[in-house]
Amino acid sequence: MDRQINSVEMEQRKGRRLVLFPLPLQGHINPMFDLANILHSRGFSITIIHTTFNSPNPSNYPHFTFRIISEDLPENNRCTKDLIVFVSMLNAICGSPFRDCLADLLSDTSEEPIACLISDAILYFTQDVANELKVPRMVLRTGAASSFCVFSSFPLLREKGYLPIQDSQLEEPIVDLPPLRVKDLPVIHTNDPEDLYNVVVGMVEQSKASNGMIWNTFEELEWTSLATLHQKLGVPLFPIGPFHKCFAVTSSTTSSSLLTHDQSCISWLDKQDPKSVIYVSFGSLASISETQFLEIAWGLANSNQPFLWVVRPGLVHGSNWVEPLPNGFLETLGGKGHIVKWAPQQQVLAHPSVGAFWTHNGWNSTLESICEGVPMVCMPCFTDQKVNARYVSEVWGIGLQLEKGLERGEIQRTIKRLMVDKDGENIRERMLNLKEKSNLCLSESGSSKQALDSLVHHILSLESLTFRTH
Ligand code: UDX
Repeated sequence: MDRQINSVEMEQRKGRRLVLFPLPLQGHINPMFDLANILHSRGFSITIIHTTFNSPNPSNYPHFTFRIISEDLPENNRCTKDLIVFVSMLNAICGSPFRDCLADLLSDTSEEPIACLISDAILYFTQDVANELKVPRMVLRTGAASSFCVFSSFPLLREKGYLPIQDSQLEEPIVDLPPLRVKDLPVIHTNDPEDLYNVVVGMVEQSKASNGMIWNTFEELEWTSLATLHQKLGVPLFPIGPFHKCFAVTSSTTSSSLLTHDQSCISWLDKQDPKSVIYVSFGSLASISETQFLEIAWGLANSNQPFLWVVRPGLVHGSNWVEPLPNGFLETLGGKGHIVKWAPQQQVLAHPSVGAFWTHNGWNSTLESICEGVPMVCMPCFTDQKVNARYVSEVWGIGLQLEKGLERGEIQRTIKRLMVDKDGENIRERMLNLKEKSNLCLSESGSSKQALDSLVHHILSLESLTFRTH
């Protein structure tokens, strides 16, 4: 944070430790580590508890301490093929090792006293552990407030017959949650839809039981949803985002990346015209069929815009990487296309050559795009991405959603509409306006800065010292 921390405040906070527990998936690890840096810069000591699965590299964070728990995930569930099974499993098996680890930290007199536990909202089992050990618990919700509003309405949606989703209802509007349609509901394919329902209800109920929720969003973007949640949840809410903009963008700001960033894309971008490039990435989890992969490739090639495309190993079902592309595909485009396995996304979006972002609308990607004023082509795959995409296209008016499936002609037309046509001009203008708001909220009198001040005071008021077990 740019602001100098007032020395009295700093003194007051000296000697308080926060214990942070991320969900071990890329889209959740990044904001949790950003939050850790933000709170560290406000005078707190930080301990990260993490799983053996997707464990972070402690040497990237010499200013934090790390504790590992052995969660003993069955080998076949260490992958994230069925995310809901994975998340349910984590909540079911982490209780005991997490409890032991936290109890150990609490009884360690050589460390500062623990002011509060901050866990990912999806790791809802931690509320019972916190209650048992009498430690205040706050949650970090890494997604948008708007999608959380929908998650908090799952019981109502089920009662009204929208859940589980029926294919015949997909285009129906949901009158209680405009402008969402049934197909925008944040669901994901899983063996048993009841498992999804239970995970969502667990997350919402145990967030309500927490001492407050921290959000990677800002008031000016999501004030309506935040106001609804304020009423519904009855706990203090702290929208202090966008987290990643609290620090200068450098390659090391995303050292929580589980994959290595390919820096070749920056020198490739340096050679392109301003605002000419479409950047394409579908995050760390989404996957597509070979047919869809080829439609994307031809849609990009036919759009005639230069493109930078992240093809993560594992993105295409049944392929290691880009094998399904016709021989010499990139060569025939004469340098117009560049493909990498993983990009330094925040640097890419901030690059002057980037004019649009074709995204799956994971919340981090959506927010990172807003902060750089880059309009979006939306292709949501599952869960909150669907709500985010609807908000991007219909509420904020800063992108276009691919509504008719993945077909090369549709892709080509949508890219042209966004990057070349008059339509795109209005979208770009709204995006720049929002970008400015995302900057202002972090200024000295900005909403996120004020929410952060309130968060610091709130944490200090939790008075955990009285709960110490020794
Ligand atoms: C997941 C869920 O899919 C998403 O719906 C939820 O909102 C968060 O958790 P993920 O799919 O990985 O996340 O997407 P996203 O939220 O966009 O996070 C991806 C992160 O990886 C971003 O911070 C992005 O900057 C980073 N990234 C992505 C890279 O560093 N390089 C890349 O090439 C692509």
